[in-house]
Amino acid sequence: MASAGIPSSRGGLPPTTKHRRGRVTPRQARALAADSAFLLDPVDIPAALLAWSGPVVLDIGFGTGDVVESYARAEPDRLILAVDMHTPGIGDLLARVGDAGLANVIVVSADVRDILASSIPRARLCGVRSFFPDPWPKARHHRRRLIRGDFPGMVADAVEPGGFWHIATDWPDYADSLDEAMRASGRWAGERIPRPQTRPLTRYESRGLRAGREAIDSWWIRIRP
Ligand SMILES: C[S@@+](CC[C@H](N)C(=O)[O-])C[C@H]1O[C@@H](n2cnc3c(N)ncnc32)[C@H](O)[C@@H]1O
Repeated sequence: MASAGIPSSRGGLPPTTKHRRGRVTPRQARALAADSAFLLDPVDIPAALLAWSGPVVLDIGFGTGDVVESYARAEPDRLILAVDMHTPGIGDLLARVGDAGLANVIVVSADVRDILASSIPRARLCGVRSFFPDPWPKARHHRRRLIRGDFPGMVADAVEPGGFWHIATDWPDYADSLDEAMRASGRWAGERIPRPQTRPLTRYESRGLRAGREAIDSWWIRIRP
């Protein structure tokens, strides 16, 4: 079931080399093959956001989608725009929202940088969640990290003044460098916070805890330019 007014997808994944394929379970494969009303082509995002009059949260890199499902159930008045480019994860979230009939989730298979650049109207989002972005722990790979450079500014353009960005990572040097990038943007004010009880444990986080890594949460508010 799709939300009233949200255009249905064109079905299937867009033909881009950016998508990370990987082993797909039968359940994920069925969800990916179905012409799911929850999977939206990026060009249809502006119309979907127009059709939804309430607040919208962007979830960047949802992985298996379990956390998106939890938030969607807990916050039915918020639409979650869930963006990832990992094919099995897309299938997983499509299966979850399809089975649960969650009308407040839109799944987009894309690089979030492309979505921010072209598909989200200025200041349309009330908030953003990025839980455990790929850590790229080796120093020579740090430039591949998502939250760096101009990325905080790109996200700020899409978020209303006063809106939030909740970030969690379990790599201390990533936490330090993203703090620096957020402050350097001049568009965000924030601080480290204790891990909120209300934030569901993510799959990546559980693996990190088993390896002895603790989550570092930070909460940012979009300040006026
Ligand atoms: C380490 S996983 C964490 C997944 C999940 N949030 C969790 O905590 O279990 C990072 C996720 O971000 C996604 N990702 C990485 N870069 C991305 C990008 N530029 N746009 C959208 N998703 C991205 C990856 O495909 C992956 O699913």
